[in-house]
Amino acid sequence: MSTPSAIESVLVENRVFEPSEATVKAARISGMDGYNALCAEAAADFEGFWARLARENVVWNKPFTKTLDESNAPFYKWFEDGELNASYNCLDKHMGTPNENKTAVIFEADGGEVTKTTYKELLAKVSQFANALKSRGINKGDRVLIYMPMTLEGVVAMQACARIGATHSVVFGGFSAKALQERIIDAGAVAVVTANFQMRGGKELPLKAIVDEGLSLGGCESIKTVLVFERTPTACNMVAGRDMTFTEALAGQSTECAPVMVGAEHPLFILFTSGSTGKPKGVQHATGGFVLWAKLTMDWTFDLRADDVFWCTADIGWITGHAYVAYGPLAAGATQIIFEGVPTYPNAGRFWQMIERHKCSIFYTAPTAIRSLIKSAESDAKVHPDASDLSSLRILGSVGEPINPEAWMWYYKNVGKEKCPIVDTFWQTETGGHMITPLPGATPLVPGSCTLPLPGIMAAIVDEAGHDVPNGSGGMLVIKRPWPSMIRTIWGDPERFKASYFPAEMGGTYYLAGDGAVRSADRGYFRITGRIDDVLNVSGHRMGTMEIESALVAKTDLVAEAAVVGRPDDLTGEAICAFVVLKRGVPTGDEAKAIAKQLRDWVAKEIGPIAKPKDIRFGENLPKTRSGKIMRRLLRSLAKGESITQDTSTLENPAILSQLGQAY
Ligand code: WT7
Repeated sequence: MSTPSAIESVLVENRVFEPSEATVKAARISGMDGYNALCAEAAADFEGFWARLARENVVWNKPFTKTLDESNAPFYKWFEDGELNASYNCLDKHMGTPNENKTAVIFEADGGEVTKTTYKELLAKVSQFANALKSRGINKGDRVLIYMPMTLEGVVAMQACARIGATHSVVFGGFSAKALQERIIDAGAVAVVTANFQMRGGKELPLKAIVDEGLSLGGCESIKTVLVFERTPTACNMVAGRDMTFTEALAGQSTECAPVMVGAEHPLFILFTSGSTGKPKGVQHATGGFVLWAKLTMDWTFDLRADDVFWCTADIGWITGHAYVAYGPLAAGATQIIFEGVPTYPNAGRFWQMIERHKCSIFYTAPTAIRSLIKSAESDAKVHPDASDLSSLRILGSVGEPINPEAWMWYYKNVGKEKCPIVDTFWQTETGGHMITPLPGATPLVPGSCTLPLPGIMAAIVDEAGHDVPNGSGGMLVIKRPWPSMIRTIWGDPERFKASYFPAEMGGTYYLAGDGAVRSADRGYFRITGRIDDVLNVSGHRMGTMEIESALVAKTDLVAEAAVVGRPDDLTGEAICAFVVLKRGVPTGDEAKAIAKQLRDWVAKEIGPIAKPKDIRFGENLPKTRSGKIMRRLLRSLAKGESITQDTSTLENPAILSQLGQAY
């Protein structure tokens, strides 16, 4: 008999962890009564609820008079006639308060050096950088592409853009030259902010060279300026007239710069993410709504207190690094840790050692990181959480992908010592901040469940026609009403925005998250079951299958056809599996291995190393219906290593299935 425990713990989860009485008492949103009261307020007067929160949590230079404009749905507008500045809300507002000389950022470099920056010092740095941008002719409305390591300077660059009303677009440092070029063109950026190199795991990796390569691919004539942070002493290529080091750019610039007030709907940033077609989507966020939600969810989800030391391990290249590194902690006046390196260098105890070193009290990371650290900790006591003093911790968080109950329990016991609530926060690049999450002083926790929507977030599970499904049955996750931090449009493609997120079959106003979900029969708790579109989640990184397919078939000398699917993976959540038809027939043995390597390197060059397929399978064809449609469900079964039990009678070429069995 097989052991049913693993399967059962996923399907039925009976463990419940109530918040302690002391936690409930001290919490900002106290107990389920506190939560229910806020939900009732939102239900009774939706706009009044948001208006109150926006007045209490954002400093407006000019107050708004209208809360929500739905006249051109789904192009919603929030607080439209209000004016503010995001950087003012993160920095200036703390001046003259006890936060002025509080540490804003504890930066720990890859190699271990620590530097601390107060709010006052950070304001000076941001202002000085903003002046440098202005002196290069960069102004309100311009787009600035940021391709930086995970350093304080990356946050400074983002805040400086916000200060002058320029719209930033951060591209994760792991993306390729080609990916960078596409994003520069799509955004119409006028400048790139980068570094000569980045340090990761003791290695010096090029950044500026990749920018140069991206710009040389053509179509990037809009770029007039490249600012280069000298992260390491190693020289890099500099183009006269276009490129400037940070030292040169900052020389002589004043450390004061008046923030430029912008309308609440002014685009604060564009962040590219993967969708179900080959072309990444430039998700556009608005200043007012984003700042409100970043600040408020720091207070609600993390129940932030004045003496907390907050640490979100996400890179600024992802939305988590926008909301919970670059803006939220600063808007909330927190002390935060920013970490440049990787969790396994110099050893896999780095996170735990850093929690001890900096007395971190709120720790927010991804399930992938937890799963890989479990593996290391279980085989080496020196890097086990028990080897560090983690008594400063009071709240743990998880983000980016479903957390399996086993990993949840390990995190709860070994890191949180059974006293720290885990907030499993479900959200997306498009939602701008948390949507469904427990509240540490209110919500009873169930491992593997993100529990309940935040007050004002009208999440539901529906069928294809938009009708609610009963608790216990699966369906599609939607949000029925707009919320302030939501995506405003896809940059330059409003039609794609409408078609991707607001399906006409559901009435055109429900936001479709793209995830499947189910609510528990007893508590109505949400559990996310995974994407329902052609989007994969690999180590918490979002990848479109079509994007990888396009990259593979672009290798025209080798590849005739390719199909990409995901398969479950214990460590990375999902793994990328590519089925490839070569122009030269089916390779075997060492030759197949060599070609598989060649294709992986190619995908790394086209998109980035994060998009490299884990498995590559070769066949002389792909399984297709008689009408020529690739049967992806069969490919998914093959990728999982399952024997094919589906009906294959509609298949044009059933013999192909056995050929595609071997993974390289
Ligand atoms: C997709 C969004 C959330 C910011 C970082 C990722 C998955 C995210 C959870 C969670 C289950 C989750 C979803 C979502 N996801 N958080 N707590 N439980 N799934 O943002 O790159 O836009 O990806 O990540 O599938 O749609 P993203």
